[in-house]
Amino acid sequence: MSKETGKNPLRAAPSGPLEGSIRPPGDKSISHRALMLGALALGETSIEGLLEGEDVLATAAAMRAFGATVARDDTGVWTVRGLGVGGLLEPEGVIDYGNAGTGVRLAMGLAGSHGFATTFTGDHSLVGRPMGRVFDPLRRMGVQILSRSGDRLPATIKGPDVPVPIEYRVPVASAQVKSAVLLAALNFSGTTTVIEPVATRDHTERMLAAFGAAIETTVAEDGVRTITIDGGADLHPQKIVVPGDPSSAAFPIVAALIVEGSDVTVENALLNPTRAGLIETLTEMGGDIAIDNRRTVGGEEVGDVRVRASRLKGVAVPADRAPSMIDEYPVLAVAAAFAEGETRMEGIGELRVKESDRIAMMAAGLKANGVDVEDGPDRLVVRGNGRPEGGATVETALDHRIAMSFMIMGLATRKPVTIDDQGPIATSFPAFRDMMAGLGARFESVDGG
Ligand code: S3P
Repeated sequence: MSKETGKNPLRAAPSGPLEGSIRPPGDKSISHRALMLGALALGETSIEGLLEGEDVLATAAAMRAFGATVARDDTGVWTVRGLGVGGLLEPEGVIDYGNAGTGVRLAMGLAGSHGFATTFTGDHSLVGRPMGRVFDPLRRMGVQILSRSGDRLPATIKGPDVPVPIEYRVPVASAQVKSAVLLAALNFSGTTTVIEPVATRDHTERMLAAFGAAIETTVAEDGVRTITIDGGADLHPQKIVVPGDPSSAAFPIVAALIVEGSDVTVENALLNPTRAGLIETLTEMGGDIAIDNRRTVGGEEVGDVRVRASRLKGVAVPADRAPSMIDEYPVLAVAAAFAEGETRMEGIGELRVKESDRIAMMAAGLKANGVDVEDGPDRLVVRGNGRPEGGATVETALDHRIAMSFMIMGLATRKPVTIDDQGPIATSFPAFRDMMAGLGARFESVDGG
């Protein structure tokens, strides 16, 4: 770690074939939700396979601050002793959610149905991200929200004197917004309706149903989803098994495709159709990807994904596929840099408000490493040339997925690729470096990092 910058650079060097099997860490989305619903159920929920990354640990700390008992045993199983719907207690201090956008947006929904004030904040990345998308529907429900900067954190949330169950059409394709409204609605009497024009990940709906909430989803012929939830039902503790995170699996999958001679199996990856866009796209690009051992774990389909190095070709990724692979575009852009021809990614404006502006960060990092890239307000076009030059150092701007994407790139470029800071990787995939090294990836410390 550099004393002057507090950053910890890491270099990826051209590697020989990657081989072997790995199990990615638990799904981040499901892990956050399991802790939160556990905190609202009366009794003890157990969670196996929880992602122990910084983002999810921030949710564990937040649930403790709200009065739930959250513990981990020696075998890695977590338990949450919940307080019942509406039973959260007033936290003593400010809740600092670090880098975790999903965690804080969902927790603001939870806090919004309780009659005390909770103040939320986060790191430099999180306080720059838009929160108005969650404040708007919560305000319509009667929730009081104070934010000095309008639609950003820090913000103080206090539940309504008179809650208003609403019908809300989600204006951006966002599972976080949908989930914040559904979590608030749990504790309001009456029926709340969320209309989702474009389907997003459905883990909140599935898990709420499993815990016993009165929730129903109907899908119209044009694909529009209407989700209704009746407030006031008790939640019952569950035994949850968290499947492997497909957004983390994406990194070894793309690595195996672009490093010549590779043959890698990523075990126990979640195959939920609302998360499956990357595998579909890579397959269209000519990727040799086979899914074996499909099975159901904790109410979700999982499988083992076997990937062999492939010659990829550029494709146009349809805009309506974006929600099912929203976090995977950075690493898809890396795959596209090694493909023959143009890969067009359209309708991805949401990437500009993730942990960093991911369109800008990917365009800059790819260009610096010799790739022909064009970017627009909501698109990224990558013109691949088989094997990019590499050789540059890339800024990661507190964004774990930018950091990991460029580490994957450097395994197959002509010259190594360096990231300015590996620190952010711990938010979602603390074992990334060791797991990739176990497959044969050459990651080298820089400046003693
Ligand atoms: C998530 C939803 C997505 C995704 C995020 C996790 C979730 O965000 O980018 O990493 O768990 O609900 P949006 O809902 O803002 O698209």
